[in-house]
Amino acid sequence: WATFADDVDAIDRLKREHDAVVLAHNYMTPEIFHGVADIAGDSLALAREAQSVEASTIVLAGVHFMAETAKLLNPAKRVLIPDLRAGCSLAESITPEDVLALRAAHPGVPVVTYVNTSAAVKAVSDICCTSGNAVKVIESLGVEEVIMVPDQYLARNIAAQTGVRVITHPGACEVHERFTPADIATIRADHPGVTVLAHPECPPEVVDAADASGSTAQMIDFVTREHPRTVALITECSMSDNVAAEHPDVEFVRPCNLCPHMKRNTLRAIRLALETGRHEVTVDPALAAPARRAIERMLEVR
Ligand code: 13P
Ligand code: SF4
Repeated sequence: WATFADDVDAIDRLKREHDAVVLAHNYMTPEIFHGVADIAGDSLALAREAQSVEASTIVLAGVHFMAETAKLLNPAKRVLIPDLRAGCSLAESITPEDVLALRAAHPGVPVVTYVNTSAAVKAVSDICCTSGNAVKVIESLGVEEVIMVPDQYLARNIAAQTGVRVITHPGACEVHERFTPADIATIRADHPGVTVLAHPECPPEVVDAADASGSTAQMIDFVTREHPRTVALITECSMSDNVAAEHPDVEFVRPCNLCPHMKRNTLRAIRLALETGRHEVTVDPALAAPARRAIERMLEVR
């Protein structure tokens, strides 16, 4: 804890010296989430916040696509990611060529792309979505069929909620695809009365077995609003740690799969990013304009 405290103090000082803010995803460990984050949120909140940040430097404590999205939305800012290895299995699963092949096979069908993708993939997409706004984005299009990439499970879960047909790509989140309906059955047997909330990157059978489904921020809102006696958040390990700290009267069952990419973020790496200016995120100018358009279209959907 002594070194944690040293790093937290140093990060506070460095933020002032360098006119920087730390935007942190909800999967950050508690010492980052509660200790140094100026703003914490889900992918959608981080994108919205990145648009309006006034500080000249953004440290994005999350994964690469989140930092790239921040840079696209606020290109005048210096955006730093503490560890360049912080990727995402969904972003890795798809290339622009895959999207173009789907477009060629399904002419005229709009392409809705999850933000968990590279700028190059966003650049060949019509509109982005996050887990927090996917239903609204799909409904805003007013069509019967969409190409929804790259998360096959998110696509099927949103199709079930909207009635819109989805053409999918075989991508999956390496964290959420590991949860099973049997996990939920065990949690319910061991904790009668438990409320189960599942992230929509989980397979549809898992979402069906849960009481509700939503983005990380929507799960936090649910706990704050409904105050369940016992709750299980079917998502990454740090979520329950972070939310439990703010709700001492709620019992958290802790099914836990770790995202190794999110966990590349440490206090030490954030401190080093501020001390050395590494690793600055840039976007190929040829991709930036079309990628930004797809994200901005998403942000216009309310
Ligand atoms: P949220 O947008 O729900 O925070 O999800 C991001 C993510 O990477 C989930 O695995
Ligand atoms: Fe990507 Fe899954 Fe990690 Fe989220 S939890 S960053 S979707 S690998």
